[in-house]
Amino acid sequence: MRTTLIVTLVLHVLSGVFWVGTTFALARMAGNQTDLFFRPQMGAAAVAVATGGLLWFLPHSGPLGMQGHILALGALCALLAVGVQGVMGAPALGKLSALGESEESRLRHRVARSQRIAASLLMITVTCMAAARYA
Ligand code: HEM
Repeated sequence: MRTTLIVTLVLHVLSGVFWVGTTFALARMAGNQTDLFFRPQMGAAAVAVATGGLLWFLPHSGPLGMQGHILALGALCALLAVGVQGVMGAPALGKLSALGESEESRLRHRVARSQRIAASLLMITVTCMAAARYA
């Protein structure tokens, strides 16, 4: 049980750091390079969410308490962030390659905006994850 917890937590933190790191970087790159990072970014998000869910159910039983509420707020923001990246960013990214320059710039703005919104949400996630233990 202890080993499972440690392995899950390490996978959670590694994938979370990659997801958050690429999101922060892409939020500052005006939609450039997002096509290179989008798949690994979404892969990392999936691993972070899945391992986060496991961490939630493995050791946490009984009433939520302050720590649980803070973790839940962080998890909610993470889910909203992946939703924004998937629903707003992915379709725009998919159309990019087939279009002319003016339309391309509009879509790049949309991709960049989705990364910026996700970055703000993930900032709350990381704050909650870091603070929950001491609440
Ligand atoms: C839906 C998404 C997420 C869920 C459900 C979730 C859930 C959790 C849970 C339940 C814990 C507590 C583990 C314990 O019992 O000690 C935890 C810890 C942690 N999470 Fe998340 N998490 C999510 C996303 C993220 C993301 C995106 C990051 C970004 C880096 C992150 C970073 C961390 C860190 C660093 C810890 C360790 C905190 C500590 O041990 O003090 N999590 N997470």
